[in-house]
Amino acid sequence: MRLQNRIAIITGGANGIGRATATRFAAEGARVAIWDLAEEAGRAGAAEIAGARFQAVNVTDPASVESAVEEIVQAWGRIDILVNNAGILRDAQLVSYKDGELRGRMSIEDYDAVLGVNLRGVFLCTRAVAPVMMRQSYGRILSTSSVVGLYGNFGQTNYVAAKAGVIGMTRVWARELGRYNITANAVAPGFIATDMTRSMPEKILEMMVARVPARRIGQPEDVANAFLFLASEEAGYINGAVISVDGGMVTGT
Ligand code: NAI
Repeated sequence: MRLQNRIAIITGGANGIGRATATRFAAEGARVAIWDLAEEAGRAGAAEIAGARFQAVNVTDPASVESAVEEIVQAWGRIDILVNNAGILRDAQLVSYKDGELRGRMSIEDYDAVLGVNLRGVFLCTRAVAPVMMRQSYGRILSTSSVVGLYGNFGQTNYVAAKAGVIGMTRVWARELGRYNITANAVAPGFIATDMTRSMPEKILEMMVARVPARRIGQPEDVANAFLFLASEEAGYINGAVISVDGGMVTGT
C-alpha cells in the first residue's frame, strides 16, 4: 500500500495509460479522481475502481478545471498527486511538397488543438492544484511527456512542441515548488499499446517495434508503474527528472 490515503487526480484517466494508472494507484490505497472528456468510459472506469470518482473535465477549460479542483477539496479535503496525462494527436507534416507542388501544411487548428490539450492543459491543471499542495506542504506533480519530446518525430511539429514543453515546465515547477515539499517529474513513454497507437497502420507499428531494443511494444501498466514509483515515498528526493519508459527506444535511435 504505497499510496495509502493519498488523493490523486489523473487527467485523461478514462482510457489507456491514465486508466491503468488510476487502477494501479487505487490498488496501492489511493483515492482517485478520473478527469476526462470521455464520460461513458470515465464513468465505467471509476465504477470498476474502488474509491474512484469520475469528473467530466476538459483540461483546456480553466473554469472546468478550477471547479473540479474545488469539488475534490470539498469532498476529500486535500490533493496529493496530480498526473497530467490527457493528450491527443493531430499529425501532419509542417509542409508536404511533392512533384514540385505544395500538397498540404499542418493546419493552425491542428497545431492549436494539440498545444491546447497537451501543453495548456498541463499548465491549467497544475496551476489549479499547486495552491492546494502548497497549503498542505506536500505534493507530487507528474506529467506525461514522450520520447518524441526528447528527439523529435516526423509529422509531429505540434505534438513534439507540447511534449518538449512539458519537460520544460516540469523543470520550472521543480525549482519553484520544491521548497513547499512538492516535486515535479515527467515520464517519457515510448511506444505504448493504447487507442493512440492502435490507430497506426500495421506497417508503421512493425517498423516502430523494430526500433525498440526491448523488441516489444510497451503496455499502459509499464507507464503506470513509473508513475507509481514517482508518486511514492521512495521517490521523495527525485525532482525535475524525466524518466523514459520506452524499452530503450531513445538509446536505440
Ligand atoms: P488515450 O487516447 O488512450 O487516452 C487519452 C485520454 O485523454 C482519453 O481518455 C481522452 O478522452 C482524454 N482527453 C483528450 N482530450 C482531453 C481533454 N481536453 N480533457 C480531458 N481529457 C481529455 O491515449 P494514451 O496513449 O493513454 O495517452 C496518454 C498520454 O500518454 C498522452 O498524453 C499521450 O500523449 C502520452 N503518450 C502516449 C504514448 C503511446 O504510445 N500511447 C507514447 C508517449 C506519450
